[in-house]
Amino acid sequence: MTQALRPFPHRHLLGLERLSAEDITQVLDLAESFLEISERPIKKVPTLRGRTVINLFLEASTRTRTSFEIAAKRLSADAVNISGSGSSTSKGETLLDTARNLAAMRPDVVVLRHHASGSAELVARHIDAAIINAGDGTHEHPTQGLLDASTIRHHKRRVAGLVVAIVGDIEHSRVARSNLYGLTKLGAEVRLCAPFTMLPHGIERAAGELREQVSVHHRLEAALEGADVVMMLRVQRERMGDGPARFPTNREYSRHFGLSPRALAYAKADAIVMHPGPINRGVELDPLVADGPRSVILEQVTRGVAIRMAVLYLLGVGSGGAEGGARSAPNLAV
Ligand code: NCD
Repeated sequence: MTQALRPFPHRHLLGLERLSAEDITQVLDLAESFLEISERPIKKVPTLRGRTVINLFLEASTRTRTSFEIAAKRLSADAVNISGSGSSTSKGETLLDTARNLAAMRPDVVVLRHHASGSAELVARHIDAAIINAGDGTHEHPTQGLLDASTIRHHKRRVAGLVVAIVGDIEHSRVARSNLYGLTKLGAEVRLCAPFTMLPHGIERAAGELREQVSVHHRLEAALEGADVVMMLRVQRERMGDGPARFPTNREYSRHFGLSPRALAYAKADAIVMHPGPINRGVELDPLVADGPRSVILEQVTRGVAIRMAVLYLLGVGSGGAEGGARSAPNLAV
């Protein structure tokens, strides 16, 4: 028997800023039911049979691209992958032209990663398929925010009331932004911690009326004091251009903002350590912590597949939105 499902009230997933706590919880709950498929010997259900998903990745990616591809395949969708260097964008085609041409082949979902903030929204306005933002510049990375919330909820049994420290290159991090929106909506307290040179002035205001739940720190120890979750971010040198350095040396950065066993001792004794990957080992994260017992980094990756299956299901069945979209819980029989 298939259960009735609350219709997901969005046609696209462009960011967590526009999702309600209820929308986010719906994705997290649905993902729980998909987790088990990845543990079966035959990791495939016919749920999205006959649907087409195009993964258009015009910026580097290992985890996110593979995760979306595996998620689509485990749901039996036809998945097509396009990467930057192998696509016509390298011949000078504009993003909109590429998107319109792909749309002419009638995909149901387009998953887009692009270096420009706002690119997913732009494409969503011009083509008919459901768009999933897989990272647009420094703006948002909603499925990463969802998989992080899922990992936190699993380990701590709740998100509301937790203290989550997000540490590192906040300025360039779409992961930090999506988590800021997602975790505050779910009722967590978020502490943002970075050097002055990597933390945009007034970032806490991005949380709107929830900004009381957000604080800004420039000392790691203060940000970690009593934290339930420590989320470390990569220093994103590729987004810094040729401008002035943000900190003198890697050694200096890791001394003040890197998570060592000594720094982690400021957090709660049962605090978990997260990182979206890829890790700069020895810069933002000491290998002893990355590979230590408090690290849930690889669990984030495992949950990422289930989260993407849930999002593909909610947006990929029917045409999505309040009128279309998934209306019943997925049948997970083989
Ligand atoms: C992140 C990204 O691309 O925004 N990685 C990811 O998707 N897992 C973070 C990063 O690149 O540092």
